[in-house]
Amino acid sequence: MCGIVGILGKGPVAGQLVDALKRLEYRGYDSAGIATLEDGSLTRLRASGKLKNLEEKLASAGMTGAIGIGHTRWATHGKPNEANAHPHANARVAVVHNGIIENFRELREELIVKGHAFASETDSEVVAHLVADGLKAGATPEAAVAAALKRLKGAFALAFLFDGQPDLLIGARRGSPLAVGWSEEGSFLGSDALALAPFATSIAYLDEGDWVVLRREGTQFFDAGDTMVERRRQPLQAGSFMVDKGNYRHYMAKEIHEQPEVVGRTLAHYLDLAEGVVRLPFDLNCDVKKLSRVTISACGTAYYAGLVARYWLERFARLSVEIDIASEFRYRDPPLPEDGLMIVVSQSGETADTLAALRYAKEHGQHILSIVNVETSTIARESDTVAKTLAGPEIGVASTKAFTCQLAVFACLALALGRARGVLTKERERELVTELIAAPGQMAEALNREAAIEPVARDVARASSVLYLGRGPCFPLAMEGALKLKELSYIHAEGYAAGELKHGPIALIDYAMPVIVLAPPDASLEKTVSNLQEVAARGGHLILIGSPRAREAAAAELAGFVEIPETVAGPFASLVYAVPAQLLAYHVATFMGKDVDQPRNLAKSVTVE
Ligand code: F6R
Repeated sequence: MCGIVGILGKGPVAGQLVDALKRLEYRGYDSAGIATLEDGSLTRLRASGKLKNLEEKLASAGMTGAIGIGHTRWATHGKPNEANAHPHANARVAVVHNGIIENFRELREELIVKGHAFASETDSEVVAHLVADGLKAGATPEAAVAAALKRLKGAFALAFLFDGQPDLLIGARRGSPLAVGWSEEGSFLGSDALALAPFATSIAYLDEGDWVVLRREGTQFFDAGDTMVERRRQPLQAGSFMVDKGNYRHYMAKEIHEQPEVVGRTLAHYLDLAEGVVRLPFDLNCDVKKLSRVTISACGTAYYAGLVARYWLERFARLSVEIDIASEFRYRDPPLPEDGLMIVVSQSGETADTLAALRYAKEHGQHILSIVNVETSTIARESDTVAKTLAGPEIGVASTKAFTCQLAVFACLALALGRARGVLTKERERELVTELIAAPGQMAEALNREAAIEPVARDVARASSVLYLGRGPCFPLAMEGALKLKELSYIHAEGYAAGELKHGPIALIDYAMPVIVLAPPDASLEKTVSNLQEVAARGGHLILIGSPRAREAAAAELAGFVEIPETVAGPFASLVYAVPAQLLAYHVATFMGKDVDQPRNLAKSVTVE
């Protein structure tokens, strides 16, 4: 969840540490801090809140040390104040930590008895004291860290800086990602390649349980059993990680508008455009004809992508689909079919719950296919097959373009499975591929409706609760629309299956609560319109996102209407309808003056369970 960085450089590193933290801020932004060695002595600078607060402090701090560590925090244990900000330190060692130390209470009690004084409420500080305890007993830094790691339970990526050791950084990982980078300018530690991109020209990832010693003369990797090991060093292309806002006010706006391009790019990767058929660039390595069902697991928006995909996999590949939120999935101890296929979906590829679901499925003999946006991520590396989304780096904390790219991959997969299982004729496949290829253009048309969405957004911004309704693939989309609205604007919102309205939520209907109906012109349009009329009959505050035909059929007074062309129809309409749902949430939040790219309490990569 948090982001960590370490630099063993040739000149002052404080500015570079903050620069690297900027690219890690998507992992949390409750507080930030750095530690360097100034004349050999540990020196810290920390600030609560966003990184700019730390940057302001740094301007007058005059730190010149050539070695340091840094951290941007998403709070788990302890309030997001300066005392709880990392690095945590004592006279001997400073540490930055991403993850959760599960046994920190017992370790803390043990260390307090030994005379250690704690200055924060965090689980992380215990690591600094544990290592200091070893150093006090005469251990070398390497031995003290190796011994401390064996006492820790939980998930972590750690970076250590030692008082009086201007040539030594130590990193460790268990459950949370950590990479080492190198260049002429020095060596580096970072939570991901994005942090290291401008500095490093080559990179290597620590394997689960590894720890690493960085010195100016070289780097040594050790596995969980403290045996020295080699880890593959690969070139790092800085350019591929370059991200800026372009002409947009927010990353999120840019990412919403990039969708026609990145969805098109993703489709092109999985389709043979000349032939008009699906051509997967990988082998599924399982007998798809024998598959009885597919299991899908993911979190948040990625889970909603899986829910949409269920409609496609059932319909086009005649596969039954078992899908669950990753944090529930593995604790149910679900029985899984022999030689089954498990699909995990994750933008970051680092979500702890999704990774745990993957590992559960692997232990139970499933073939793992992951749909990920970060190809170097832990989930990608632990999968048997990786289906990448070509969304490019997604910086806005709320997922937008990654979601629609996940849908694009799922659509291709459903068609490929349908064909391989002999349930989809080539002709039908071609028809469906033609519909899919139309989606990016239709998304661009939907983006042109932005001006019509703004007045609707002003209206919704006055509400304290909002209901989204949809049927078929637009039911998960209703939940996704509600999630986008609540995380960006902090307005309570719920997504419901339109047909379920009368079984409870209809009791909520009054004019104070906008009801947003997603109604593409599909087979269920009439039914959706009936549900809309049930709301109208009770004096509801109706907003319709739908086709002209839906508008006409509604025959009700609407507080807002976002017109999506009639041609956006058929099974993949949800791909296009995602766009107005995202734009609406974005504009509501900007009218309300909210921090769209970094909503409160959230983090882009959720590496804790
Ligand atoms: C919502 C959102 C989250 C993520 C979820 C999973 O806008 O972004 O719900 O979808 O945390 O993250 P990934 O896809 O990285 O596994």
